[in-house]
Amino acid sequence: MKLKVLVVDDDKNSREIIKMGLQKDYDVKVAYDGIHAYDILKKEKFDVIICDFVMNELDGLELLRRIKSEGNDAIFILITAFGTSELTIKSIQEGAYEYLSKPFKIKDLKRIIENYEKRQEAAISVENNNNTETENKDEIIANSPSFVQILKELAKIAKSDMPVLILGESGTGKEVIANLIHKYSNRKNNEFFAVNCNAIPASLLESELFGYEKGSFTGADKDKKGYFELANNGTLFLDEIGDLELDIQVKLLRVLQENTIRRVGGKKEIKLNVRYVFATNVNLENKVKDGKFRKDLYFRLKVAEIKLPPLRERKSDILPLANYFLKKYAEGGEILKLSKEAEKCLLKYDFPGNIRELENVIRNAIVKAKDSGVILKTDLNLCPIDKAENVLVDKNALIKALDDYNGNKVKVAEALGISRSTLYRMLDRHGIK
Ligand SMILES: Nc1ncnc2c1ncn2[C@@H]1O[C@H](COP(=O)(O)OP(=O)(O)OP(=O)(O)O)[C@@H](O)[C@H]1O
Ligand SMILES: [Mg+2]
Repeated sequence: MKLKVLVVDDDKNSREIIKMGLQKDYDVKVAYDGIHAYDILKKEKFDVIICDFVMNELDGLELLRRIKSEGNDAIFILITAFGTSELTIKSIQEGAYEYLSKPFKIKDLKRIIENYEKRQEAAISVENNNNTETENKDEIIANSPSFVQILKELAKIAKSDMPVLILGESGTGKEVIANLIHKYSNRKNNEFFAVNCNAIPASLLESELFGYEKGSFTGADKDKKGYFELANNGTLFLDEIGDLELDIQVKLLRVLQENTIRRVGGKKEIKLNVRYVFATNVNLENKVKDGKFRKDLYFRLKVAEIKLPPLRERKSDILPLANYFLKKYAEGGEILKLSKEAEKCLLKYDFPGNIRELENVIRNAIVKAKDSGVILKTDLNLCPIDKAENVLVDKNALIKALDDYNGNKVKVAEALGISRSTLYRMLDRHGIK
């Protein structure tokens, strides 16, 4: 059955052109403005709505808002005049599926609709395979409402081909999210490439990304594909893009605008079909203000934005993550449990290094607590007082402190920053009277 498409545009010419371009493959109707469209949509169900942004009375954004709030699940493709990135962002936040800048080709519009159809088919098969597929792989832990909400948004964003910018402090899971976007996209069976832009020296970055042709510089003894080409038809994750040098920023912007590249030393234009995901832990807005990051590039990147909150702002993820890591690093052996005190300590801690830090804390704790069945607060090495206890495990240090204070236990405990009862336990452990 043909998909039903509604074309909304107050410009007669452009709505007729779109209609003519699509009517061979789809069942197309037109509306001459927002209000007309709204009336039609009340009576009839459509799969796809293609809508101009600027219209008198009821503009594209307002129409989108209205029908989405009424639960209309048609995909909404917005057509915007060039240079309205703020509005574009808003529309995507309101639930637009894709946007196209004028002028566009009917071919591009068709591709969006075709991708949507393919995705519908793929979604069904993903649902059927999901359980077996995720079982052995790394799990995604999501318990806090804020993170669950992010995953919901991600699922929506992943389905479109638009670029995504992931922001978050280091260790918050940016790479994990980038992977998920690919996995939930219709490109999931194609390549996913992750490039850490900071890890590649600036002088090499261009040839790594764009590839090069034999003889283009000393050492270029054969043609080489760059990451843009390698990721063709798939997803390219450009990580740590906040510190890109300005000349590379210009080149990246051009790729995003034109979807073509030329290898270093090459003449041929190579057509690209790549989905981009970007990430950074720096504040790009500040960089733009300081003139270190191009504003036009910034707007290209931030069309769809995912902000990962730090772990300390989603504390209800801490224990589920800790337990997940306990399982993950048990490596077939016994899975250790957290003592109540250890749990409390984890919940109190700030985790400047976020999930990555939690992961390391648990991994180290497993080594310390091995064979004891349970992870104690002291195994976590997080609270200052625990550090003092660890120092005290050293018998000599304890004897020295007792000496310094003439055996006055209150003073010794105070000086070492531990409670008296802990001190007594320590003395006991070392057999000191
Ligand atoms: N929701 C999650 N569930 C399970 N593990 C997670 C989750 N998020 C992140 N991790 C784990 O935490 C670690 C850090 O994640 P990731 O590398 O994606 O963070 P990042 O933001 O890219 O960090 P950096 O800025 O240091 O590169 C990884 O080992 C990852 O597997
Ligand atoms: Mg990372």
